[in-house]
Amino acid sequence: MNFKTTIFSIFFISTGMAIYAQQVPLQKKSAVGNRIVEFVPKGFDKNKTPSLILASEPISKGKVPTDWSLIPEFSFANNKASAVLNLKGDISLYGGGEVTGPLLRNGQSIKLWNTDTGAYSVEGGKRLYQTHPWVMGVRPDGSAFGIIFDSTWKAELITNSNQIIYNSEGALFRVYIIDRKSPQEVMKGLSELTGTIKLPPRWALGYHQCRFSYDSEKRVMEIADNFREKKIPCDVIWMDIDYMQGYRVFTFDSIRFENPKRLNDNLHSKGFKAIYMIDPGVKVDKEYTVYQSGSKNDVWVQQNNGEEYHGKVWPGDCAFPDFTSPKTRKWWAGLYKDFLNTGIDGVWNDMNEPAVNDNDFPEDKRLGTMPYDTPHKGGGNLPQGSHLLYHNAYGRLMVEASYDGILKTNPEKRPFLLTRSNLLGGQRFAATWTGDNYAGWDHLKLSVPMSLTLGLSGQPFSGPDIGGFLGNTDGDLWANWLGFGAFMPFARGHACAGTNDKEPWAYGPEIEKTSRIALERRYRLLPYLYTLFYESSKTGMPVMSPVFFADVKDSRLRAEEQAFLLGENLLVVPAFAKNPVLPSGIWEELNLIEGEKTDKYQAKLSIRGGSIIPAGKVIQNAGENSFDPLSLFVCLDKEGKASGELYLDSGDGFGFQKGDYALITFSAEKKNDIVIVRVSNVEGKRNSNEDVKAVNVSLILSGKIYTGSGTLKDGITITLK
Ligand code: GLC
Repeated sequence: MNFKTTIFSIFFISTGMAIYAQQVPLQKKSAVGNRIVEFVPKGFDKNKTPSLILASEPISKGKVPTDWSLIPEFSFANNKASAVLNLKGDISLYGGGEVTGPLLRNGQSIKLWNTDTGAYSVEGGKRLYQTHPWVMGVRPDGSAFGIIFDSTWKAELITNSNQIIYNSEGALFRVYIIDRKSPQEVMKGLSELTGTIKLPPRWALGYHQCRFSYDSEKRVMEIADNFREKKIPCDVIWMDIDYMQGYRVFTFDSIRFENPKRLNDNLHSKGFKAIYMIDPGVKVDKEYTVYQSGSKNDVWVQQNNGEEYHGKVWPGDCAFPDFTSPKTRKWWAGLYKDFLNTGIDGVWNDMNEPAVNDNDFPEDKRLGTMPYDTPHKGGGNLPQGSHLLYHNAYGRLMVEASYDGILKTNPEKRPFLLTRSNLLGGQRFAATWTGDNYAGWDHLKLSVPMSLTLGLSGQPFSGPDIGGFLGNTDGDLWANWLGFGAFMPFARGHACAGTNDKEPWAYGPEIEKTSRIALERRYRLLPYLYTLFYESSKTGMPVMSPVFFADVKDSRLRAEEQAFLLGENLLVVPAFAKNPVLPSGIWEELNLIEGEKTDKYQAKLSIRGGSIIPAGKVIQNAGENSFDPLSLFVCLDKEGKASGELYLDSGDGFGFQKGDYALITFSAEKKNDIVIVRVSNVEGKRNSNEDVKAVNVSLILSGKIYTGSGTLKDGITITLK
C-alpha cells in the first residue's frame, strides 16, 4: 500500500476500541480555474462519491500556482473520509450555508444532514434543512480563500480558529480551493464551480404573502383584494397544502378550490401571481392518478427487500420518488404540465429533506427521514447508493426535476421555484427561505446572519418567514421585522396554522401604515434590486452582503451581523440594531418615502459615497411601470464623482438572452457648483429611451438634497446652490 503511515487522528467506534485514521496521500492536484485548485485523494472513486455540487466536471488547466499554500490533508478510517485544512494567522471564517449562530463562524460546528427542524430546535440548531460543505476565510489583509468539500455524505463541518475540519460518514471526496485577492473574487470563483442563480422574473422580487393556509378561493381573493384596497404593494399570494385534495400533490380540493383556473385568472387580473406548494411524498392510494402513474413507471424509492418504502407525511402513508434516477426526474417534471396550465406562476417545493413523520416509532428509532441504508437507484452519471449518500441531495435533485418541468411547460417564462431543502450549488434551480422560524426576537435577529451566510455560500435568493412562522406575532415584532425584511432578497410574510393573522393590516392602523411604508420603500428600490439580481446571475455575487464587504481590510467590520449591505451601495441598519459597527467613508442617509423618518420601525438606509442608486416610483406590483419617472440618487465621493448601474428588460421571458435588455451605466461629476449626471455606457439592444421617458436626480451632499431632472439622452445638470 502506498498510504503514508502517519497517524494523525483517532476515531472511537461504539465498542470503545480506538481506530487509527490513516492519512491519505494526494493522487492529483491541478489548477481548474483562475487560482482554483482541485485536490484528489488517492483512492477517490466517482462511483462512491459523485459530485452533485459542481455545475460541470472541472477541466484541468495545468499546474498549481507556485505561491500556493493551502493544501488539504485527507484521512480515512472505518469507511469514513475526512479532510482538514490547517490555517495560519488570524482568519475570519464564513459560510456553511444555512446555519444558526453568528455570521463569523470561527469556533462553530454544524451537522450536514438535511432536517425538518421546527424553531431550529433539532440538535440545538446545528442541523438545518440544507447542506453547504463550504467555508470562506478572509485574511487580515482582505485577501480570501474558500474551500468546497465535494461530497453529499452525512457529515460534520467544524470551523476552529486554526483548522477547517470536514468529517464525512462516507467515501473519499475531492476538495476545491479558491485563493484570491478578496472575498468578492472568491464568491465569483465559487460560482465558476457551482453556477449562479438564473435571472428571476421581476415579479419574484416583489412582496409575497403566504399563510398555512389561505384555505379557500374566497379567502385568497379577500387577501388579494385587501392589498389593493389598502394600497399596500404585493405581487404574489401563496397556496399552502390545504388547496390540495386530501394533501395529494398535483390535485385541487374539489370544494374549496373547485376552479383553480378561475382563481388564478382572477389573481392575474388584479396584478398578482399565484404560487402553489408541491411536496415530494405521494399518497399511497390506488385510486389516485399520480400514485398509479408513479407505480406504473417504477419511480418509487424501494427498501433493500424490494418493497416500496413508505413514510408518513401530511396525507398519511406516502411513496417517495427516487430522484437519483433520470427516468424518475423526467416523470416528475411531466406532472407539472396540467397543473401549471391552470395558470399557476410559481412552485414551492417543501418537506424535501425528505421529512418523514415517525413520531409513533419508539424514540431511539426515530430518524425523521427514511432509513440510512435505503437504496437509491441512480442512473445517468449517478451510481447506485444508499440514503446516507443521497439524503443531502434529495431536495437538490427534486428541484432540478421541478425546474425542468416548469420550464418545459412554459418555455417562454422564467421559472420561479422555492425550496426548503437544498445543497451547495442548488441555487441553479431554486430560491430558498430559512424554514420554520418562530415569532420571537432571537429569530428576528438571527434572520440577518442566516440570509447573509446563505449569500456567502452561493445562494443569494433567500429570506426568512417575515414575522415568524411558529407562534403568535404581535404588532411590534411584525413591524420591526418587516422594517428590514423589506430589504432582504426574498421578502415573504408567512404564518403557521393555528397562529394569529399576520398580514400587514392584522395589527391595527398604525402598524398597517408602517407596513405600507416599508413595502413602498422596497418597491421604490425594485430597479436597483433587479439590477443586483442580474449581476448576481452573472457573477454569483450575493444580493445582500455583510458590511465587511464595504471595506475588506477593516477588521472592525468582520463580525457585524445586524446591519447589512444591499449590493455595494446601500447600507441597511435595522431598527433593532444596537451599536452596529458601520463602514467608514462617506455614507449619506437615503430617504425614499414620506413618513419613513419619523417611523421608529423603519430600517435606516444610507447610500455610499461614489455611487448612484436607480429607483422607481411606488407601484402596487412589479408589472406596473416603475420608470415614470426614473429616480437616480447620487452621492459623490471625495473626488466629486459617482457611478452606478441600472439593468432593465421586459421583466420575464428570455428575450434578454438575445440582447433585449439595457445595462445602463450612469456617471456623475462635480465641477465647481455644477454636477452633471449622464449615461456613460449602454450595453444591450433594448431602446431604454422607450422605457425611461424622464429622469429625476436627487443628489445628497452633507445631508442636503439638490434636485434636477432631464432625460437619459440629454443628461441632467444640478446646481449646488
Ligand atoms: C412546513 C413548511 C411551512 C409550511 C408547512 C405546511 O412546515 O416549512 O412553511 O407552511 O410545512 O405546508
